[in-house]
Amino acid sequence: MAQNKYSILLPTYNERENLPLIIWLINKTLSESGIDFEVIIIDDGSPDGTLDVAKQLQKIFGEKKIILRPREKKLGLGTAYIHGIKHATGNYIIIMDADLSHHPKFIPQFIKKQKEGNYDIISGTRYIGDGGVYGWDLRRKLISRGANFLARVLLRPGASDLTGSFRLYKKEILEKLIAACGSKGYVFQMEMIVRARQFGYAVGEVPITFVDRFYGESKLGGNEVIQYATGLLRLFATT
Ligand code: GDD
Ligand code: MN
Repeated sequence: MAQNKYSILLPTYNERENLPLIIWLINKTLSESGIDFEVIIIDDGSPDGTLDVAKQLQKIFGEKKIILRPREKKLGLGTAYIHGIKHATGNYIIIMDADLSHHPKFIPQFIKKQKEGNYDIISGTRYIGDGGVYGWDLRRKLISRGANFLARVLLRPGASDLTGSFRLYKKEILEKLIAACGSKGYVFQMEMIVRARQFGYAVGEVPITFVDRFYGESKLGGNEVIQYATGLLRLFATT
């Protein structure tokens, strides 16, 4: 059997300071564990020059490891994954944030867990076991808790962290979910898990710690919160 390959989708918007570190950490962690991987960077025309940094990293790590799939302008997180997966050559897809909030050390744990139960999806969760959030202010904690609570009550998805974006998918499963998905922004993550349950896919969970970014700022504004709420209601009405 051919060895598994993992395509990591890394959406970026103004992540110039974070990108070299996260790429270095991914490469170190996965190489040391003997994991075959590629990183697909989807930059949405960041004004801070993230794409130039990405090009430098491609020179250092090689075109097989670092693949650039930029878009002209900021088109949202959900569609960034959909754009990135089209160029993935792995049989597994990993999605994670580029701002060091998601530590690559959890990736070998995701892979181990996936193999144990032949899961279709492994979802990193902040809300069970050793999982947690570090560095968020009360407002941000309430938004995340509230978003998860509402979604759990309304949609009963059978997973503990619906809005998290550190996950592993079988590629063909993610493609099927995307085909059924209507979300463009942050609500994408939740829709994936809700649809997965609808289709009867097996979801495993691994506790992760989410550490708030040190460089740059979050792109989650009031607009995204409203989009999330309308997305949630749309899912409630349609699933
Ligand atoms: N290409 C692209 N386009 N990338 C984007 C966009 C976009 O429109 N918006 C955000 N990103 C990238 C960021 O550069 C970062 O790598 C990642 O997506 C997450 O964005 P953040 O702005 O850092 O999100 P956050 O820390 O506020 O939110 C985190 O927690 C949320 C709630 O749990 C993320 O993990 C979210 O995905 C999650 O829903
Ligand atoms: Mn972040």
